[in-house]
Parts: sequence; C-alpha cells; structure tokens
Amino acid sequence: MSKVKVLTIFGTRPEAIKMAPLVKEIEKNSDTLESVVCVTAQHRQILDQVLELFEIKPDYDLDIMKDNQNLWSLTSDVLLKTKEVIEEVKPDVVLVHGDTTTSMAAALSAFYAKVPVGHVEAGLRTFDKYYPFPEEINRVFTDAVCTYYFAPTDKSCDNLKASLANPENIYKTGNTVIDALLYTVENHKEEVEGLTLNPNLKTILLTSHRRENFGEPIREICKAVLELVERNQDIEVVYPVHPNPNVRQPVYELLDGKERIHLIKPLEYAQFCSLMKKAHIIMTDSGGVQEEAPSLGKPVLVLRDTTERPEAVDYGTVKLVGANKEKIISTVEKLLSDEAEYKKMSESVNPYGDGLASKRIVEVLKSIKK
Ligand code: UD1
Ligand code: UDP
Repeated sequence: MSKVKVLTIFGTRPEAIKMAPLVKEIEKNSDTLESVVCVTAQHRQILDQVLELFEIKPDYDLDIMKDNQNLWSLTSDVLLKTKEVIEEVKPDVVLVHGDTTTSMAAALSAFYAKVPVGHVEAGLRTFDKYYPFPEEINRVFTDAVCTYYFAPTDKSCDNLKASLANPENIYKTGNTVIDALLYTVENHKEEVEGLTLNPNLKTILLTSHRRENFGEPIREICKAVLELVERNQDIEVVYPVHPNPNVRQPVYELLDGKERIHLIKPLEYAQFCSLMKKAHIIMTDSGGVQEEAPSLGKPVLVLRDTTERPEAVDYGTVKLVGANKEKIISTVEKLLSDEAEYKKMSESVNPYGDGLASKRIVEVLKSIKK
C-alpha cells in the first residue's frame, strides 16, 4: 500500500510551535505517511527560531515576509506561491493551522486544487467578525473549505457542528500547543539570555501584538504598565516585543529605559517557556499564551474584550481585561494584594490538551483512503 502524502503548510511563529510536534509525529510514522513541509515564512526571524529549536528543515520555503506587510499582498503571495508547491507535490492531504493569513490562503489554494484540507485547531470562534481581525474570518473561511477538522475542545467541536453544512470528520484531539509545551519544558531548560531578574521582585510577563490593539489601545496598555511599576515597588515587567513595527514603535516610545521595565527581543520558545514558569502574573493578547499559561499555573490577564478560548475563563484562571488602563491596574493590584484571589487564578488547569493531540491527528491521517 502506498503512503499517504501529507503536505503541512505554515508561516508564523504560533503556527510553527503548534505544527512542530505534529510534523515530528508524522515523520515518526514514515512507514505509512510521507511528510512534506512548506513554510510560507509570513514571519521570518521568529519562525526560524522555532524551526531551529524543533530541528525542522522545510522542503519548501516561500520566503514571502516583507517589512510592514499588508493583508492583500500577503494573501495573494500565499495563494499564488502555494499553488506551485501543491501542483508539484501532489499531496493526498494538506494540513493548515489556526487562523492566520497563511492558513486561510493555503487552505483556499488546496481547495482550488481539489486537495482535501485538514484544519488543526479548528472550530474556535468569537462570533464577531472584527474581533480578532482578521483571524475570526480566517477561521470561519478555513473551516468552510476543509475536509478534516482537528478541534481542541468540546466547545470547538460544538461550534463546528453548529456551523458546517456537512458536520463530518470532526475529531476532538486537544491542542497541539500542549504537546509542544510539555516537550519543551521537559527537554529544554533554557535561561533567558541577557536578562537579569531581581529575585526580590515579582515578575509580570507581558506580550501584545493584535491588530485591533494597534494605535490607542496599545498606548493604553503601556500607560497601565508605567503606572503599575510606579505604584508597586515590588514588581518588574518583562516584555518581549513582537517585531511588528506597529507594536515596536509605540512600545519603545513609551516604555524604553524606564525603571523595572525590561523591553527585550522576541524570545526563542524554550526561553519564553522558562520565563512563563518564572512569572508571577502574565498579561497578554496572544492566543497561544492563553492556552499555555493555565497549564503552568499562572494567572493570565487577557488584553482583549473577547476570546475564542473561553475554557480557561470558565475555570477562572484567565480574566478578560481589554486594553482598559484602569481595569488592567485594578486587576493586577488585586492579584498582588489578595492571596486568596491569586491562589484561585493560579490553579493549574489543562482544558486545552494532554500532550497527545499530535498522536490522535496522525491516527486519523493514517486512515485516509487514497
Ligand atoms: C500574524 C498573524 C496573527 C498572529 C501573529 C502571531 C495574520 C493576518 N496575522 O500577525 O494572526 O497572531 O502573526 O505573531 O496572519 N515581522 C518581522 N519579523 C518576523 C515577523 C514579523 O520583522 O519574524 C514584522 C514585519 O515587518 C511584518 C510585520 O511584523 O511585515 C507583521 O507581520 P504579519 O505576519 O503580517 O502580522 P503579525 O502582527 O505578526
Ligand atoms: N512566544 C515565544 N517567544 C516570545 C513570545 C511568545 O516563543 O517572545 C510563543 C508563545 O509561548 C506562544 C506563541 O509564541 O506559543 C504565541 O505567539 P504569538 O503571541 O505571536 O501569536 P498568537 O498565539 O497570538 O497567534
């Protein structure tokens, strides 16, 4: 029997982190599956950090990233360049991940070539097409053209059943981010290079990059951080700044050189995991960090008004605070001063997976009829 040829396409840091354990698992099953990896390189430096850590050498690298790129050119570059790869590889199935422009346009590209698509991390929804923008529509669109759905939780399965015309081939697998996290925490105990933290202070870890926070919201977040460090002498803030110029510009303008605020470059994943483990509180608008931090037992304040990841909010370990300065300050200060509140939010919970998602997905891939 000939092998099932799986073409995995991804382009950004979070897709790479979440696809890496799956690529490794496909490679382990080389008796029945053939793995071909294509990176669009929608991200460059922060994608390469992940490829290096997980020792993935892509078969195709489309190298599309441009400085301060826009959605139109990004979409057309992914669509046109993946067409050539799909035509050359002739895969039995294409895998995409999540909700980026790479995922959406690569799924469309495979659909146009009439190749079945598997969507890893399918079924997440806020039901608001502008929050997050453009990710909510990227997910809806990707789910519409897919054949196989690898949904992380019961809620994501229910969303798919309610929204798809033919709700078939929906598999609850858990999220591969937990596979990546557990593997990394176990195998790479890396310290953060060039960062000295004061052991007498509590560390607040901050990340932010969402398009809907560009402009005034990100400035509000920075102002909240400034006021927090001024009012609370026992904290320091570490902020690995996303390379997007729309983030870097206001963040460096408002926070660079301030006492007890460390602006650092994006961290290699293993170092970022160490930092999450050290942190007292995490503030983020990232999707992946919302999924990882609860399993490390860290309270998470989400710098957004909505989330497609409501599970940890239901458990009480994640709180939505938006980009609202007063709300950010009062929620952090409550956690700093109220032990019972901190204990409640720092319970370790794992609604997003058990580390076996990639294995479950591979079992489905092995059953695909050629
Ligand atoms: C993208 C995704 C978003 C995802 C995020 C993860 C889309 C539309 N957005 O947003 O869903 O949550 O990645 O981080 O798919 N840059 C670099 N080096 C890098 C990466 C980015 O310099 O390694 C800069 C470039 O100037 C680039 C810009 O950041 O043009 C924006 O990158 P882009 O992928 O368009 O948007 P993100 O905000 O990173
Ligand atoms: N991350 C990292 N280094 C950093 C910041 C984040 O490796 O400096 C990891 C983080 O642990 C998570 C992923 O990158 O797995 C999240 O990526 P990002 O926030 O860029 O995207 P999102 O998850 O919001 O799509």
